[in-house]
Amino acid sequence: MSKKIKIGLFGFGVVGEGLYKVLRQTPTLQASIEKICIKDAFKKRNAPVELFTTQKNDLLYNDDINIIVEVIDDAEAAFEIVKVALQNGKQVVSASKKMLAYHLPEILALQKKYQLSFLYESAACASIPVIRNLEEYYDNDLLHSLRAIVNGSTNYILTKMLEDQLSFKDALIHAQQLGFAESNPTLDIEGFDAVNKWCLLLAHAYGIVVHPDKILFNGIQHIGAIDADFASKNDYSIRLIAHAEKLQNGQIAAYVLPSFIKKTDALAFVRNEFNGVVIESSFADQQFFYGKGAGSFPTASALLSDIAALRYDYKYEYKKIHQSPTQLDNSFFLSIYLRYPIDAKMNTDNWVNFEIIDSTSCYAIAKANVTIDELLINDWWKQQNGISLIVLPLLNEQ
Ligand code: HSE
Repeated sequence: MSKKIKIGLFGFGVVGEGLYKVLRQTPTLQASIEKICIKDAFKKRNAPVELFTTQKNDLLYNDDINIIVEVIDDAEAAFEIVKVALQNGKQVVSASKKMLAYHLPEILALQKKYQLSFLYESAACASIPVIRNLEEYYDNDLLHSLRAIVNGSTNYILTKMLEDQLSFKDALIHAQQLGFAESNPTLDIEGFDAVNKWCLLLAHAYGIVVHPDKILFNGIQHIGAIDADFASKNDYSIRLIAHAEKLQNGQIAAYVLPSFIKKTDALAFVRNEFNGVVIESSFADQQFFYGKGAGSFPTASALLSDIAALRYDYKYEYKKIHQSPTQLDNSFFLSIYLRYPIDAKMNTDNWVNFEIIDSTSCYAIAKANVTIDELLINDWWKQQNGISLIVLPLLNEQ
C-alpha cells in the first residue's frame, strides 16, 4: 500500500478523540485523518467541523482513504463497516472487542479472501502489546498458561472497593467519569467485556476460535464485604482473572471468573485501570506484561501502533489456528469458594468435596471442587442475587 496513511475514522468518543489527539502529536508517522463518521451530527466536537460526516459511505467508498479505523461500540454496525471496508480494498484497524469476538470466523474468512491486514491490538488489554507478542513470539507448544486481568473498569472498581472502601456504586461512577467503562457498564461488571477479550487472546495464544457463549465466565457483580473479609483473613487479593492453561492431554482449560490470588501473585500488583498478563512457558518460565488497559490515550497508543504497522503491511498470520490448533477441555476441576444465602436454591449434586467452612443465620461459605462444564451447564450460582462464586488458588498455592 502507499506509505502515506489516510485514515477514515468511525467513532469520536473517548477512544476516537484520543486517536485524533495522539496522531496530531506524532507527525513523523505521516498519517492523517481524512474523514470521521459519527452518529450525532449536533454534538460539539473538538476537531474541525469539515472532518465530520454522518454518512458511512463518505469513508468506505472514498478513494483517498486507505485505512479504516473503527472504534464504535455497536458490534453489529462495526461488523458491517469492517466487512465493506475489506471488500473495498481498505486495511482495517479496530478496537471493537465484542464485534471481533462474535465475528472472528467471518473476519478470518474475509482477511483470507481479500488478503488485507486487519489489526486489533487495542481490543485486548489496550496499551499492552499482547496480541502481537502471542502471535509472533510464543510457539504454541511452549505456552503452559496465560493468566490475565483484561478489564480495566472492574479492576478499578475492585481496587477502590477493597483498598479505599469506596462503595461499588461510587467506584463505578468514577470508572465511568474517567472514560474506562463501556457505555453500558453491565458489559464490564458482569464479565462480558472480559470474556470477549479472552476469546481474542485464546485465538492468538492457542489457535482456539470460540464464541464467547461457550466460555465459562462471570463478573464482579456479586462480590461483597464478606468476600473481602475472607480475602483479608487469608492474605488474598480478589481480581477478575481470565485463565487458560494447557492440560496434560494437550487441550486447554479456560475461564474468566473472580478469583482469590495470593498477595505475592504478579496480578495482585495490578491495580486500578491497569491490566496484566502472566505467561508461563517452558523455557522462559514466568513473564509479566503490565500496562493501562482502558482510557483514551492508552487505547489510542495501541491503535497508533497498528496504524504504524500497516505502513509495512503487517498482518496477523494466525499461525496457531492454521498449524496447531487446540480445543477447549471443560472437564478441568476448579477449586471454588461459594458464599450463599441460607435459602438459596442450589444444585451441588456434581460438586465434589463440598464442605461448609463458615455460616451464620443468613449465609454460609463453602469450598468445593467443580468442573468448568458443570458450572457452565448448571449456572444457578450465576443467576441468583447474593451468591458469590470465587476461584480459590490451587491447593499447593493456597
Ligand atoms: N471497558 C473496557 C475496560 C475498556 O474497562 O477494560 C477497554 O477495553
